[in-house]
Amino acid sequence: MTTPAGTAASAPASTPTTTLPGGTWTMGGLTVTRFGYGAMQLTGPGVTGPPADPDGALAVLREAVRLGITHIDTADAYGPHVTNRLIREALHPYPDGLHVVTKVGAVRDAQGGWPVAREPDDLRRAVHSNLENLGVESLDLVNLRLGDAEGPQPGSLARAYETLAGLQQEGLIRHLGLSNVTAEQVAEAEGIAPFVCVQNLYNLAHRGDDDLVDRLAARGIAYVPFFPLGGFSPLQSSELSAVAARYGVRPMAVALAWLLHRSPNILLIPGTSSVAHLRENITGAGLALSGQDLTRLDAIGR
Ligand SMILES: NC(=O)c1ccc[n+]([C@@H]2O[C@H](COP(=O)([O-])OP(=O)(O)OC[C@H]3O[C@@H](n4cnc5c(N)ncnc54)[C@H](OP(=O)(O)O)[C@@H]3O)[C@@H](O)[C@H]2O)c1
Repeated sequence: MTTPAGTAASAPASTPTTTLPGGTWTMGGLTVTRFGYGAMQLTGPGVTGPPADPDGALAVLREAVRLGITHIDTADAYGPHVTNRLIREALHPYPDGLHVVTKVGAVRDAQGGWPVAREPDDLRRAVHSNLENLGVESLDLVNLRLGDAEGPQPGSLARAYETLAGLQQEGLIRHLGLSNVTAEQVAEAEGIAPFVCVQNLYNLAHRGDDDLVDRLAARGIAYVPFFPLGGFSPLQSSELSAVAARYGVRPMAVALAWLLHRSPNILLIPGTSSVAHLRENITGAGLALSGQDLTRLDAIGR
């Protein structure tokens, strides 16, 4: 079995190098702020085409970096190519310490669907497309995205993951990650090549990965929940609203703060197309929740 790139011994905890809530986490050699930014919402509707307000999208990216965020999540399939090109336009040449994390494994069709594309040629093409559109010679971290729009699906990842590991050995990728995967696929990947993060659907109301979060934490591997705010269907729960009302904040603040409390290996990548929401989310994620409220919130998705 291969050793994971980040081990519990070398891992990471909060350091005082950022004032963002949650501090930092180190994935392999990449130290990132636990409060990151997910760029998917910067496209047009349906994650397709350019945004209605391109200058606004560029402003969100620049503000994220100005506020100290060092982890931006993207994919060349967003748009397609739209978010990567916006990231390049807004931020290239990239400041030291900024890590843009991408994913491969799906492309877009003319209807806006997300067909899987995991043959070796597909993955090579996707890596080169990310390199070109982000304007870099190597990618910091590439997640192999499995499953489909319905979520993770069973089946071996070996062929696709070995292909990605080969592209890493060619020097095109620094670190590997997994996305939209089952616990069995995570275990299978461990026998093939080290990975530094798992990015799956998880939030206050969707807790199917609770065990996986804890197992990865024990091994020093990051868990990056996508849809931390519920994605296209904002989180709704009377308990969540009641807790938020007690602190005088919006439910989104509680949802983000809860994730940071949940486990030190959780990295946030909330998406927004609004500078005001970005700032609000940073403030909100810093909310100190009482033990009693953490227990109440914990019960929501169980
Ligand atoms: N690996 C995968 O398969 C996968 C799948 C989906 C997503 N992802 C990644 O995960 C990231 C996060 O997911 P996501 O952006 O789809 O969902 P999300 O972070 O759960 O929620 C984003 C939505 O919440 C809204 N929002 C954010 N802050 C708000 C605020 N303070 N007040 C009101 N509304 C607010 C946004 O609208 P506004 O624009 O109006 O703020 C947007 O509609 C994505 O950006 C992407 O990078 C990965």
